Amino acid sequence: MSGCCGPATAEIEQFTTQHQPEGLPVVVIGAGPVGLAAAAHLAERGLDFLVLEAGQQAGASIAKWGHVRVFSPWKYDIDAAARRLLEADGWTAPDPEWLPTGAELVDDYLAPLAKLLGRRVRTGAAVTAISRLGYDRVRTNGREQAPFLIRLADGQELQARAVVDASGTYASPNVLGAGGLPAHGEQTAAELIDHALPDVLGADRGRYEGKRVLVVGAGHSAATTLLALAQLDDTPITWAIRAGDAARTYGGGEADALPARGALGTRLHALVTSGRITLLTGFFTHRVNVTAHGVEVVSRDPSGAEQSLVVDRIVSATGYRPDHSIAGELRLDLDPILGSTRALAPLIDPNQHSCGTVPAHGVDGLAHPEPGYYAIGVKSYGRAPTFLMATGYEQARSVVAALAGDWEAARQVQLELPETGVCSSSLAEAQEQRAGLATGISGGLLATPLPLATVSASGDGGGCCG
Ligand SMILES: Cc1cc2nc3c(=O)[nH]c(=O)nc-3n(C[C@H](O)[C@H](O)[C@H](O)COP(=O)(O)OP(=O)(O)OC[C@H]3O[C@@H](n4cnc5c(N)ncnc54)[C@H](O)[C@@H]3O)c2cc1C
Ligand SMILES: NC(=O)c1ccc[n+]([C@@H]2O[C@H](COP(=O)([O-])OP(=O)(O)OC[C@H]3O[C@@H](n4cnc5c(N)ncnc54)[C@H](OP(=O)(O)O)[C@@H]3O)[C@@H](O)[C@H]2O)c1
Repeated sequence: MSGCCGPATAEIEQFTTQHQPEGLPVVVIGAGPVGLAAAAHLAERGLDFLVLEAGQQAGASIAKWGHVRVFSPWKYDIDAAARRLLEADGWTAPDPEWLPTGAELVDDYLAPLAKLLGRRVRTGAAVTAISRLGYDRVRTNGREQAPFLIRLADGQELQARAVVDASGTYASPNVLGAGGLPAHGEQTAAELIDHALPDVLGADRGRYEGKRVLVVGAGHSAATTLLALAQLDDTPITWAIRAGDAARTYGGGEADALPARGALGTRLHALVTSGRITLLTGFFTHRVNVTAHGVEVVSRDPSGAEQSLVVDRIVSATGYRPDHSIAGELRLDLDPILGSTRALAPLIDPNQHSCGTVPAHGVDGLAHPEPGYYAIGVKSYGRAPTFLMATGYEQARSVVAALAGDWEAARQVQLELPETGVCSSSLAEAQEQRAGLATGISGGLLATPLPLATVSASGDGGGCCG
């Protein structure tokens, strides 16, 4: 598949194969599953590389939601090159049908992989900026021959022949404010607002038990947190969403090809129906006031109508956005809506696609005008909530093949993803397409004013991606 925008295919190929600053490593940013997959492919191809990981361990972002069980069984969670390296070292893959927790993903897969890669994975190494040696974004002549310059938080600078940015989006959550700007008072109330997936039944239990809790957001993070909160006694729970109903959060139910995901929505639906969880629809967080009696959360919808409630804590489960600031001196061609590459945007566009219909894509769809810089993994999808590890592993394989000059392999992209109820052809999806909306799993609207275009769809709209 070839991309539509950014540098022409021939230009990417010429740079990648002929103009590499010799003797420098490929730097991979982030030791999450996709960064480590890139490392495994680089190792297999005998290319020098260094993985820079901001956290103190491989899978540092996943470790933050270690208590959450993922939707994809192990057979979809292990990269092929990583598997080959690990198995050659005597590792035995976990049960392919088992759904691991985040902690199991780290302990049983990412940590052994990082250990095997040894000193080429450097933890505690946060990248703060990337440029090219001697070249700001404006200088052109000779740019392609200049090595990348990578600055770390401790001031150290490294050089690289190429940069594979797999730094994820977990550290840049969306705000609580319904229009994408922080709600008034959101920063002041920060101590009373948790971002997605607090460990409600474990380490964070004391912050929630016996408290009035508001969960904002319509994705799987909101659903996961709501199900956990419902297990606490004397804990009144309110769930606020922008949409007019929660049909798509409830998901595909038994029709979902990833059964764990379907079950989440079905259980949530039952808790709302029974009254254990109070659902507020058409809720557009506008203002947050800390008062002596709790946090007052005020919604103001686009017509100006307000509703409010007072709670003790808020969980802001509003999704994630990519932070491209570390690449601010590089020449990026970003899709104005999603923040992916322009070439990738139509392939992952949640108005058109859910995860099950994302076509195979690789190096050409991921290239920017800055030759040798690739964002892969969940960061490559920008704001599209349709990413799966399996997709990222194919990206890593393709990009590394290109860096090795093996363009035939780089362009033979293949992707087999599990289908989901809504990913195929449910009535709800047809209705969404007619209304021109759907931000993936939960049915927000990208192009239509939210209160006017909610999906009153019957039944099983649905979750799309793990
Ligand atoms: C709760 C949850 C459940 C999910 N379940 C599934 C599932 O079932 N199936 C599925 O396929 N996908 C699932 N996903 C989606 C996705 O596969 C994961 O988010 C996955 O972790 C993405 O991998 P990644 O390597 O792209 O990014 P991450 O895992 O986020 O890794 C990025 C790494 O980069 C590091 N980093 C960040 N900034 C810097 C920096 N400046 N310098 C150096 N290092 C940096 C971070 O510390 C982190 O270790 C889930 C996501 C979430 C949040
Ligand atoms: N167990 C698991 O495996 C598990 C658990 C949790 C998450 N995940 C995965 O992790 C990824 C991220 O999931 P997520 O739920 O964190 O994010 P998400 O899928 O992006 O969902 C967040 C939703 O919140 C709503 N929203 C956004 N901004 C808002 C705002 N300001 N106010 C109110 N609502 C807002 C949007 O829906 P509207 O547009 O409809 O308002 C959006 O779809 C997904 O791939 C998901 O499948 C997996």
